[in-house]
Amino acid sequence: MNKISVSLGDRSYDIAIGAGVLVPEIERVLRQLPEKKIVTITDEGVPEAYARQIKNVAEKCGIEYHLIRIKNGENSKSFKVLETIVNQILDIKISRQTTLIALGGGVVGDLTGFAASILLRGVPFIQIPTTLLAMVDSSVGGKTGINTPCGKNLVGSFYQPKAVIIDTEILRSLPEREWLAGYAEIVKYAVIDDAEFFDYLENYRKESGSYPSRDEDFIQTIIRKSCQSKAAIVSRDERESGVREWLNLGHTFGHALEALVGYSGELLHGEAVAIGMILALGYSSELGLCQASDAEILENHFMNVGMDVSLRKLQERVPDKQFSPERLLDAMRHDKKVSDGKIKLILSHGIGKTVVMQADDKGLLVFWQKKLSNNNR
Ligand code: GLY
Repeated sequence: MNKISVSLGDRSYDIAIGAGVLVPEIERVLRQLPEKKIVTITDEGVPEAYARQIKNVAEKCGIEYHLIRIKNGENSKSFKVLETIVNQILDIKISRQTTLIALGGGVVGDLTGFAASILLRGVPFIQIPTTLLAMVDSSVGGKTGINTPCGKNLVGSFYQPKAVIIDTEILRSLPEREWLAGYAEIVKYAVIDDAEFFDYLENYRKESGSYPSRDEDFIQTIIRKSCQSKAAIVSRDERESGVREWLNLGHTFGHALEALVGYSGELLHGEAVAIGMILALGYSSELGLCQASDAEILENHFMNVGMDVSLRKLQERVPDKQFSPERLLDAMRHDKKVSDGKIKLILSHGIGKTVVMQADDKGLLVFWQKKLSNNNR
């Protein structure tokens, strides 16, 4: 088992990573709880076996156990579902020492973390991510929140978990499409500031021939490396006033596509981030910050691992949605990264070299026009 620390003074915590760590780690954590009551929040897509394992450990430790199961999908990150679960949790008669357990992907983690941050002005919570994306991104770093009709994650808080438990055995049942969506966030760490890691991923792809690879050593290596990168960044800049902004590479373009497509599963968040990163590098090359070949290398990497990152195909999948440059620019303006009326973009001087810049609306409009009309991939 690997342990990685997120160093944030009295809010520091460990990320435990390993195959089969769920039961021993949850037992270790539960034995240290200040109050013998837990509420597990999970969704209908998470196999029941994991909640049962937590329940068994809770019973063994003499802990009162409650379970709340929400619908799966991005639509659960709403005021309505938040209100429902907050009321259900309050009905259990919790105290400030009652611990919530987020057992699921990013939706469950973000929603549970936000509920934990506002219930009784803050109760402890633990993250047990069950998707690759949640393991390498959303479960670490304390960003919690819900979506509103204006955009993703526009209501939320920075609220750190007490522990993160990553059991890689859980990934065995993860569908290929979701595995790849999570893989995109792993590639993001390489593109941000680790060209060597990108070479490692690219060489692994070439040598292994087929993706997604379920090789345990490889999985543990890439999850560990991603969590180390995220822990280091969050430890330096918890509330995103500097270097943490880099983690938004591909997100402003990607969120715009997600907002336009809707959250019905046609475009997973990781897929949007992959396309968003290609667009960010493409836009960087338009500005002369990097070579056009940098965006191509990234696009080819995603295509070669089996990801569908084609804007044209995305448009074809949702023929009822109108992909206009104006609507996409408008969606970008609704993202959180607007300051002083200007969109702040995470751009690149090439793979491994990130730069943050204010974007010019007109330039972005022309860029979207070009991408949507010239898009033969
Ligand atoms: N997902 C980006 C961050 O945690 O900052």
